[in-house]
Amino acid sequence: MVRSFCLLIAAVLACASCRATHMMDATCTEITTNKSYSCEGLGLREIPGSLPVTTEILDFSFNVLPSLQKSTFSGLESLLHLDLTRCQINWVYEDAFHNNRQLQTIVLTGNLLMFLSDSAFAGPLSLRELVLTQTGISTISFIPMTNLDSLDTLILGSNHISSLQLPPNFPTKNLKHLDFQMNHIRVITAKDVSILQKTSNMTLIFKGNNILHVEPGAFRSHFYSLDFGGCADIPGVLAGIQNSTTQTLWLGTFNDMEKVPDITPGVLEGLCKVSVKDLYLQLRHFKNLNAAMFHCLTKLRKLDLTHTHISALPPGISGMGSLRELVLSFNSFQHLCNISSAAFPSLTHLHIKGNLQALQLGSGCLEGLTELQHLDLSHSHIESLNCCSKALNGLSSLKFLNLSHNTKLQIQDMFFREGASLELLDVAFTHLHIARDPLQGPFRNLHLLQVLNLSSSYINASTQHLFQGLENLVLLDLSQNIFESGIVPKDKLFQQLSNLEVLILSSCELTAVDNQVFHGLAKLRHVDLSHNKFTALSTGVFSKLKSIYLNFAYNRIRIVPRDQIESLPGHSVINLSYNPLACTCSNIGFITWYGQSLDKVEDPEGTTCSEPKSLAGAPLATVAVSCGISTAGIVAVVLVLLSCVAISIWGAHYFKQNYQQI
Ligand SMILES: *[C@@H]1O[C@H](CO)[C@@H](O)[C@H](O)[C@H]1NC(C)=O
Ligand SMILES: *[C@@H]1O[C@H](CO)[C@@H](O)[C@H](O)[C@H]1NC(C)=O
Ligand SMILES: *[C@@H]1O[C@H](CO)[C@@H](O)[C@H](O)[C@H]1NC(C)=O
Ligand SMILES: *[C@@H]1O[C@H](CO)[C@@H](O)[C@H](O)[C@H]1NC(C)=O
Ligand SMILES: *[C@@H]1O[C@H](CO)[C@@H](O)[C@H](O)[C@H]1NC(C)=O
Ligand SMILES: *[C@@H]1O[C@H](CO)[C@@H](O)[C@H](O)[C@H]1NC(C)=O
Ligand SMILES: *[C@@H]1O[C@H](CO)[C@@H](O)[C@H](O)[C@H]1NC(C)=O
Ligand SMILES: *[C@@H]1O[C@H](CO)[C@@H](O)[C@H](O)[C@H]1NC(C)=O
Repeated sequence: MVRSFCLLIAAVLACASCRATHMMDATCTEITTNKSYSCEGLGLREIPGSLPVTTEILDFSFNVLPSLQKSTFSGLESLLHLDLTRCQINWVYEDAFHNNRQLQTIVLTGNLLMFLSDSAFAGPLSLRELVLTQTGISTISFIPMTNLDSLDTLILGSNHISSLQLPPNFPTKNLKHLDFQMNHIRVITAKDVSILQKTSNMTLIFKGNNILHVEPGAFRSHFYSLDFGGCADIPGVLAGIQNSTTQTLWLGTFNDMEKVPDITPGVLEGLCKVSVKDLYLQLRHFKNLNAAMFHCLTKLRKLDLTHTHISALPPGISGMGSLRELVLSFNSFQHLCNISSAAFPSLTHLHIKGNLQALQLGSGCLEGLTELQHLDLSHSHIESLNCCSKALNGLSSLKFLNLSHNTKLQIQDMFFREGASLELLDVAFTHLHIARDPLQGPFRNLHLLQVLNLSSSYINASTQHLFQGLENLVLLDLSQNIFESGIVPKDKLFQQLSNLEVLILSSCELTAVDNQVFHGLAKLRHVDLSHNKFTALSTGVFSKLKSIYLNFAYNRIRIVPRDQIESLPGHSVINLSYNPLACTCSNIGFITWYGQSLDKVEDPEGTTCSEPKSLAGAPLATVAVSCGISTAGIVAVVLVLLSCVAISIWGAHYFKQNYQQI
């Protein structure tokens, strides 16, 4: 009795010495050592002297620097990129950047500039990008042109510019991106922009200016992109850019724009005199949409009619044989046949996503599109009782099919008979109902399929042969589906997926996975089991692989046996964040491993202790649990043990004497 009491005291003393440590830091955040820093929103009134001279990228936004002077940045000789968004800068004096020879980007967004010295931007050898959004500029002449010849990007959006008047020394040599969005430009004359004839392949943005008149022929150049989004006068703009060439032309509008006039049959006539490849008309309204409206669109490669309030494309459209991509998203088609697909025989890409009413698939509506590779029918309220062989009839080149976020698809036998070319199938967030116990797998002919997204599709994973034939599948997303009794069935579910690399089983309310489930998946490299109900980590099954990424975040794992974690292959990364991990001696094996293996764990900030209470929320990486015996502990234990021995000896002696007396 006395002896066991002594042992108890010794054990308590030995274990009572668990300790913890913590560390912290403040001011500018180092993003990349010696190179990139963020001092965002610290209320600073000067550049901190602590920033090293090697700093290349500095985010100094939301501080207070009313004026920029020669000395302001002189210590930062290596600066490449400087963000001064909303620093209350009003004055930029001579040579403010004189010592920043390497500087390429200056962002001055949201500073009300009152004075820019003539030599404000002198210094940098090759200033590439100047962002002057929301700086209160009302004329281009306010900007000193000295040393801007290297500019490839000049952004002047959201200012008060009403007249363009680009000066003769405007930096055209390298200019690729010139942005005047959201200004007050109404009229553009040929003289205003004649200097731009020296540019080529430029992106020029005028969206959000209510342009009422452009002098015919004002723009004469090869553009990459021209954006007149929201302009009221499309015929005027088209006359202004006649004889120009542009890859893309934006003539759409925006929800928050004042109402712009409808597109009537004559409005697009001017397109016959402009060479355009991709035309965007989003959010416009058409009036009397007819086949004749397309006669100047015959050279297009892409036509974007997103949200143009149409319910049908007219029959009789002809000459559209060059069109490769047609975007009809966010319209109100009742029936897939309403898009007159026969008029666009060369389409490779067709997007009808976000249809505003239930889209009926019908049968053979896209029959003529033998070159179609990419079909997006997501978010279109589709409900189909016998999907989808008839609906997709003729689409034998299809590689990409997006049917996600629809209502309900029932598969009777084969999902898509002509789908031999299909490489990606996304049915996520669509209720997928497969006929009970089909004789063969519904996807069995999709031999080239590489990506299958069945996330949140209410799929019955107990369906026999579900993944039959998918021998080229690389990624399978089964997240947010419920498995019967929370267990992935260990029968042949994944057996045929010999090329599978990525398996996502997150949010499936799983409590256990049988080791045999992954049997035969020799190429597996990424398994996501996060947001489940696992209480234990099972890793043994992965030990034969070369490397693995395992995500067990947001589970219920308290204790991780060290042999489990050590059985992971050499090149592994594991995410164990947001588990109720025990930072006690019962988990010491794991905690020790963790400290030595920070290169193998992801999200150390989120990997925190939940117990003991004193450590709850502390990142595991900052905690040191020591379960050894400290010096004081050893002394105490030795003393206790010695006295125990003494007591025992004395006790034995005492009893012996007493018994002898009897
Ligand atoms: C950062 O700069 C310091 C001081 O110049 C230097 O000792 C250190 O090696 C540098 N670190 C890196 C990662 O470049
Ligand atoms: C034209 O500009 C675009 C976008 O800036 C770029 O992707 C493209 O390569 C450029 N083309 C030529 C021929 O320079
Ligand atoms: C456009 O080119 C045509 C044919 O070369 C020419 O007749 C016409 O005057 C040009 N338009 C403008 C505004 O320069
Ligand atoms: C759409 O197509 C269906 C089926 O072909 C047809 O009944 C309907 O009239 C068409 N709707 C419009 C607006 O053309
Ligand atoms: C399918 O469409 C949805 C919604 O439009 C989108 O979120 C998803 O990324 C698309 N799938 C693929 C593979 O691009
Ligand atoms: C389905 O998964 C694919 C591949 O991870 C992804 O690109 C796509 O966006 C997902 N679809 C949806 C609707 O999230
Ligand atoms: C799933 O399929 C299996 C096998 O066909 C069947 O026994 C089970 O009832 C199905 N579960 C549901 C919820 O339909
Ligand atoms: C760890 O996994 C969780 C859940 O999937 C995710 O939110 C988090 O971003 C992951 N951590 C990292 C660093 O990727």
